[in-house]
Amino acid sequence: MARSSTAFVCSDCGGQSAQWLGKCPHCGAWNTLVETRTGGDPRSATLGRAQRAVPAALAPGSSVQDLASVPAAAQQSMPSGIGELDRVLGGGLVAGSVVLLGGDPGIGKSTLLLQVLGQLAAHTQVLYVSGEESAAQVGLRAQRLGLRQAAVRLMAEIQLERIGDALAAERPAVCVIDSIQTVYTEALASAPGSVAQVRECAAQLTRHAKSAGTCMLLVGHVTKEGALAGPRVLEHMVDTVLYFEGDTHSSFRLIRAIKNRFGGVGELGVFAMTERGLKGVANPSAIFLSQHGAPVPGSCVLATLEGSRPLLVEIQALADHAAAPSPRRLSVGLDPARLAMLLAVLHRHAGVSCADQDVFVNAVGGVRVAEPAADLAVLLAIQSSLRNRALPRGLAAFGEVGLAGEIRPAPRGQERLREAAKLGFSRAIIPAANAPRQHVQTIDGMQLHPVQRIDQALDLLRDLPETD
Ligand code: TYD
Ligand code: MG
Repeated sequence: MARSSTAFVCSDCGGQSAQWLGKCPHCGAWNTLVETRTGGDPRSATLGRAQRAVPAALAPGSSVQDLASVPAAAQQSMPSGIGELDRVLGGGLVAGSVVLLGGDPGIGKSTLLLQVLGQLAAHTQVLYVSGEESAAQVGLRAQRLGLRQAAVRLMAEIQLERIGDALAAERPAVCVIDSIQTVYTEALASAPGSVAQVRECAAQLTRHAKSAGTCMLLVGHVTKEGALAGPRVLEHMVDTVLYFEGDTHSSFRLIRAIKNRFGGVGELGVFAMTERGLKGVANPSAIFLSQHGAPVPGSCVLATLEGSRPLLVEIQALADHAAAPSPRRLSVGLDPARLAMLLAVLHRHAGVSCADQDVFVNAVGGVRVAEPAADLAVLLAIQSSLRNRALPRGLAAFGEVGLAGEIRPAPRGQERLREAAKLGFSRAIIPAANAPRQHVQTIDGMQLHPVQRIDQALDLLRDLPETD
């Protein structure tokens, strides 16, 4: 493909320009011109020099048919051999699908995918394309992971056309591209990692995955802001987007699905980084509870839900006298905007003011809790810190707090409570609407305290004994 067949296309209005300009000459938008390949049907462009037949279902101009007559072929998914990853994927890897795995540098993307290929190599053809590390470096990692003997095919390459040739020759069932930002195509003049290159390479690899039935695992870099580097469109092109998160200072790593065409999102995979790679964690609740000898002020255990799995997370709060006129509100792992709102509710509906206090809240273990059901635990932790009084031993809580000071129910309350009971919690403050009917006061031996309003919850704290 000659370089002359590219143009700069505005991503807002679609206007074309022969060279790059800061401002689109058609619509006046800034920074929207992206180098794009022009001419020819994009679907006819094949990856690599080797020509490949496109299956009828993907062929251009497939005729109109009745939806009912389309055979609903069940998507066969192949377990990746790593249970926690399969949980996030919704069963396993689907042939012809494209999975994008994003995450901070050093979090373990390459390690995980090499482990996956190491497992799969026992019964299927796999290819690892490394654009960031030399073959020797990958070999060294494989040795560390105890995968020296695994039948993983390896290629240190960044040129898309050559990768395409290798894919055609090797015909792997699963292929890892580490990373998509390092790959470039000769068809475009822009540098590897640029928006145009990432988009074009991902599009061609996706097309290859669909036509050859290869499951493509793409590693994506994450910018400082935490978004996947490169165009947002990358997330639209692929079938599944996974994010690796967690504190690089601790050994725990979480994988979350942001998008999944073959399963649910919101499932969480939990791993520990060990000397010999990533290991699935069977009982993740234990990680997110810090081990205090005695109960400490400012800490409340939240029974949250990650996907289908209940999880106990310790929420910590610290309220301290503010030195500056405008007090600071800071949250780690929780929504900062929600914290300001909760403090307002605490003031208006429970008469507890934090106007002269800096307030910090943190979800222990580097986990991110997005659900509103965390509200009650956050407020209980803040109150505990303000009063400098620890919450009763063995207490867990959950519930959304509304602007009117009401405690709203959270989904799947019983499962949260069972998880807490399993881990030895003896009492729980819960939304009244989540309480089991027929005046049941306990669940699995755990004492329940249903509350309707935030002031009621705080009053309850005062009345509860510090220990059982
Ligand atoms: P890596 O997979 O290279 O991260 P990414 O591809 O996301 O940038 O992970 C590298 C980190 O993991 C590095 O800090 C070393 C650590 N590590 C272990 O602790 N144990 C291991 O067995 C391996 C292979 C890596
Ligand atoms: Mg890497």
